[in-house]
Amino acid sequence: MAVSVSSSSILVLPFLLLCSLASACDRCVHHSRASFLTSSLTLAAGSCGYGKVAGSFSGGMLAAAGPDLYRKGVGCGACFQVRCKDGELCGTAGARVVVTDRARTKGNGTDLVLGSPAVAAMARPGMAARLAKLGAVDVEYKRVPCEYSGRNLSVRVEERSRPTSELAMTFLYQGGQTDIVAVDVAQVGSSNWRFLTRDHGPSWSTKLAPAGPLQMRIVVTGGYDGKWVWAEREVLPSGWRAGEVYDTGVQITDIAQEGCFPCDTQEWR
Ligand SMILES: *[C@@H]1O[C@H](CO)[C@@H](O)[C@H](O)[C@H]1NC(C)=O
Ligand SMILES: *[C@@H]1O[C@H](CO)[C@@H](O)[C@H](O)[C@H]1NC(C)=O
Repeated sequence: MAVSVSSSSILVLPFLLLCSLASACDRCVHHSRASFLTSSLTLAAGSCGYGKVAGSFSGGMLAAAGPDLYRKGVGCGACFQVRCKDGELCGTAGARVVVTDRARTKGNGTDLVLGSPAVAAMARPGMAARLAKLGAVDVEYKRVPCEYSGRNLSVRVEERSRPTSELAMTFLYQGGQTDIVAVDVAQVGSSNWRFLTRDHGPSWSTKLAPAGPLQMRIVVTGGYDGKWVWAEREVLPSGWRAGEVYDTGVQITDIAQEGCFPCDTQEWR
């Protein structure tokens, strides 16, 4: 575990520079605009690369994120609670959305592009159609933990993978409010870890995959620091197959801090 201290302190340096403990916050409220899509299908097929399975995330409440939230793909899978500021049309709880796509908004002040289920969820009863017609609204939003009840963090082995050479995998159902910043695999029982590099968003790969069965360890940002999440049991069996989804047997529940003021500690209901 000593390893985690050195690797993680490098990873989290930007956080430390940005904030003092006095402004430690896991729910910074951002004010912005959100525009609406008429269909969520394009979001599921979005640039994060989840594919069809994204339709099951957060009850289909999907969003495309502008550059600040998309973060060149690192923001894929992050969850946000977003509510519109029009008190007549919108409820106070808003919608909980998952980022599955990059917004093509060309820096026009729109941080989120919401699919229709999310727009409907933001609306007061009976107001969904009127809200949807607006096409874009002023919103406030904050990052919240992703919750996949009854599901563990899972990996989908991508089609181009070949046992004992290339392993490419995409993380699905990533809980908590953190970013995955490093991924290693090793044969079960071995401590000869092989690191994967991020291809894009939730997809990581190595061209030097050890022979299965494989265990996995992941570094996530948690608090101000990095933290190892260990999947010590067999995650990929010795005969792992491209196209299959495997349960890691662990779930991420950590919450990373941001620096901001004021900090919103209320639940939006
Ligand atoms: C920003 O651009 C998007 C996509 O082009 C569009 O849907 C949205 O209405 C625009 N928002 C504003 C506030 O102009
Ligand atoms: C999650 O992983 C645990 C083992 O760590 C396992 O017992 C459980 O069945 C898994 N949950 C699901 C929904 O697969």
